[in-house]
Amino acid sequence: MFSKILRPLTDLVRHILSKPDERGDLTSDLFRLKIRGRVKQLIKDNNGFLLDIGCGEGLLFETISTKGNMIRCVGIDTEHEMLEIANERFQGMKPHSLNFLKAHAQNLPFLDKSIDIAICINTFYNFHTKDDVVEVLEEMERVCKRDGFIIFDVRNKINPLVYLSFKFVWLYDTQVTLNAYSLSELTTVLTSRGMVIKETVPIGFPITMFAPIILVKAGYQ
Ligand SMILES: C[S@@+](CC[C@H](N)C(=O)[O-])C[C@H]1O[C@@H](n2cnc3c(N)ncnc32)[C@H](O)[C@@H]1O
Repeated sequence: MFSKILRPLTDLVRHILSKPDERGDLTSDLFRLKIRGRVKQLIKDNNGFLLDIGCGEGLLFETISTKGNMIRCVGIDTEHEMLEIANERFQGMKPHSLNFLKAHAQNLPFLDKSIDIAICINTFYNFHTKDDVVEVLEEMERVCKRDGFIIFDVRNKINPLVYLSFKFVWLYDTQVTLNAYSLSELTTVLTSRGMVIKETVPIGFPITMFAPIILVKAGYQ
């Protein structure tokens, strides 16, 4: 009942706040756009093999396509439809060696220590359980080279707006799963495996602890 009124309203806000050329893309909106922009900054001095986990329509590769110095980029997603859109987006203009694969984030089809930069953004908060998120983080750590790093975002449950909007999601959207986490509960998965947190970037509020979104870059010492 509530969602019948509120869902179109939230869709409209998302539409207005999207970048004009991304409007209509299922994975576009202002925060996701900001996250992709910050990821670009975090990887600006690096090159090598980049993996985007849960790549959706491939919008991250559009963001970094001007970078030009990645050697190989792969996007994986479970949804065939998303991968088709991603492939169409880069048809005939693949900026790097760019490929899209159907694969599961919890079971990455890559060898141990084979990836320079493993990224998973705008995806964890839609997973049904924390165990799913932990499995993906463990997979990211497994495939990451010793001199590489991983990047992911945390929808921060300490932020009151995130906490309330996720808890009461049933009021405005009955179909979506939204789960928020604290920074420490996700980073301990990595630190217990020998990684260190290299950088945290608050998005949406300048104080990391209370920011609605925290972007995390982790690697080895
Ligand atoms: C909200 S979109 C984010 C897309 C992209 N990362 C971005 O920032 O624009 C989440 C994507 O993750 C994919 N996904 C969900 N669960 C997954 C899983 N277990 N393994 C791989 N991809 C998954 C979905 O199909 C969807 O395309």
